Amino acid sequence: MAKLPILVAPDPVLKQVSQPVAEVTDELRRLMDDMLETMYAAPGIGLAAIQIGVAKRIIVIDLGKDKPGADDGGDAEKKKEKDPDPMYFVNPEIVWASDELVMCEEGCLSVPDLYEEVERPARVKVRYLDYHGKSQEIDCEGMLATCIQHEMDHLEGVLFIDHLSRLKREMMLKKLVKARKRESVG
Ligand code: NI
Repeated sequence: MAKLPILVAPDPVLKQVSQPVAEVTDELRRLMDDMLETMYAAPGIGLAAIQIGVAKRIIVIDLGKDKPGADDGGDAEKKKEKDPDPMYFVNPEIVWASDELVMCEEGCLSVPDLYEEVERPARVKVRYLDYHGKSQEIDCEGMLATCIQHEMDHLEGVLFIDHLSRLKREMMLKKLVKARKRESVG
């Protein structure tokens, strides 16, 4: 596996619309492995292929899974630890969304260190191809619903800051450009 550089806004590549995948091949599985490694190293909980410059409709997510027995006592640190739970979504489509909306604070590896609340449907049903190219459906709520909708936006060239007011978005982009300049100076 290989760790790849993550594009940061306002990189124009992030505005591209990603293309559907024709078939889940070994090459594509390698790409998904690399995406997962890149996401873990960042660290992040979700990554779309376009964030590493590949305009394909692929997402990886890992929200972690509670360790068995984590709830029956033990020290607090142990409770926080989670087992890895990688999820792969190829050509994901929202086939149903709840009328109920929720506000959730979001961040993005392509908008580093900035967080804002975004309103989205509380629950969605998503159809996709899994790591092995098999068609699946999943009901998402809570963090997974927010995360998968955020990542699916990336496939349309949309960032979470595009859901905010123009003023707020421009302020955040300015901060990113400034941080980038500071980095390049030293
Ligand atoms: Ni993102």
